[in-house]
Amino acid sequence: MGISKQEFARRRKNLMALLEPGSIAIVPSASLQTRSRDSEYPFRQDSDFFYLSGFDEPEAVLVLLPGREQGEYILFCRERDPAMELWNGYRAGPEGACEEFGADDAFPIGDIDDILPGLIEGRQRVYYAMGRHTEFDQQVMHWVNVIRSKVRSGAQPPGEFLDLDHLLHDMRLYKSAAELRIMRRAGEISAEAHCRAMRFCQPGVYEYQLEAEIQHEFAMAGARFPAYSSIVGAGKNGCILHYVENSSAIRDGDLVLIDAGCEFEAYAADITRTFPANGRFSPEQRALYDIVLAAQEAAIAATRPGNHWNQPHEETVRVITEGLLELGLLQGERDALIQAEAYRPFYMHRAGHWLGMDVHDVGDYKVGGEWRVLEEGMVMTVEPGIYVAPDNCDVEARWRGIGIRIEDDVVVTRDGCEILTGGVPKAADDIEALMAEARR
Ligand code: GLY
Ligand code: MN
Ligand code: MN
Repeated sequence: MGISKQEFARRRKNLMALLEPGSIAIVPSASLQTRSRDSEYPFRQDSDFFYLSGFDEPEAVLVLLPGREQGEYILFCRERDPAMELWNGYRAGPEGACEEFGADDAFPIGDIDDILPGLIEGRQRVYYAMGRHTEFDQQVMHWVNVIRSKVRSGAQPPGEFLDLDHLLHDMRLYKSAAELRIMRRAGEISAEAHCRAMRFCQPGVYEYQLEAEIQHEFAMAGARFPAYSSIVGAGKNGCILHYVENSSAIRDGDLVLIDAGCEFEAYAADITRTFPANGRFSPEQRALYDIVLAAQEAAIAATRPGNHWNQPHEETVRVITEGLLELGLLQGERDALIQAEAYRPFYMHRAGHWLGMDVHDVGDYKVGGEWRVLEEGMVMTVEPGIYVAPDNCDVEARWRGIGIRIEDDVVVTRDGCEILTGGVPKAADDIEALMAEARR
């Protein structure tokens, strides 16, 4: 599996076709980040850079020059270096950049200050991700100033600087068949990991031990890294939306909320399941759980072409408000409560986000001031939740400290949507059955 060289080439070509005439586009790679002293975090390539190149090294810059006769695609990268490679691993080098990654030309990154001004010169427009990396902004200005300093010798500096993000991110929003194959697999692996954690769970284990089960399943299936820090929160920790300490012991009677997804071939999955540590939901847990599930199902039903981005969210708000009313956690009249956003103390986030190479993927949610209309090939999460704060004095004590979220990944299809993460149960009875099976 993976993205073919042809598809990477097609992406570059499609992007170049969107650029104004007389343009150059410049995209820097990610950098290695220090964790402590001589130790670095595992390298993760910048998603934009990888989307266009498939090149997985730091200290690289991708340049697109539409219409350039000697070649439109140039990569600057690290040179081969036996000593450095002995310590830190293989490098493609400029030669490999051309042979393995399809660059028309490649140069050592150390030569970029000498070469890039010459490539910019004569182009009227420079596209890059303005304002994202301060250091890179300064570098681009430096290269342009080199040209400006030579205007009296006839050099032509560019007159316009344009944001590349907008064009590139719109492309990334629509997933190709190959991208969807990868994302389906990421969803399957992640679903299996959630099943494994449910089977393993029992009162007394630590949250980080469930995280370890998840990580084991990811790696054994070929996905070494999670797409984001796994969240494993038991009991009231489930009410902390981005709880990543994962350090508490899980107690009998707790619900356990796990939000975890793998990164597979540079694409993310993002699943949340909430289940009872002892294998049986209490009546209160079950009552709230069934509301969240109904909200999620209503939102998934509203995820189809022609509906706009906010419609699934509006469905979750309606179902959650109705459910909380019925249980007595809210009092009043439905429409007035929705209008007043009375649900917000219990449901304070949105129903989802775009999903792709980044877990919170790129792409505009509004177009021309209006919610974006859903189209085939867009991938998003659907993840409503109810969280009753442990110190919420407005509700009976029996509800307090219960945190529930249910999250799946879906792709919009021709007439609805396909769930990419259906391999892990979410109906309360099915979760109880899976856990009971594991305990036999
Ligand atoms: N895991 C982060 C999120 O669900 O958005
Ligand atoms: Mn999530
Ligand atoms: Mn999410």
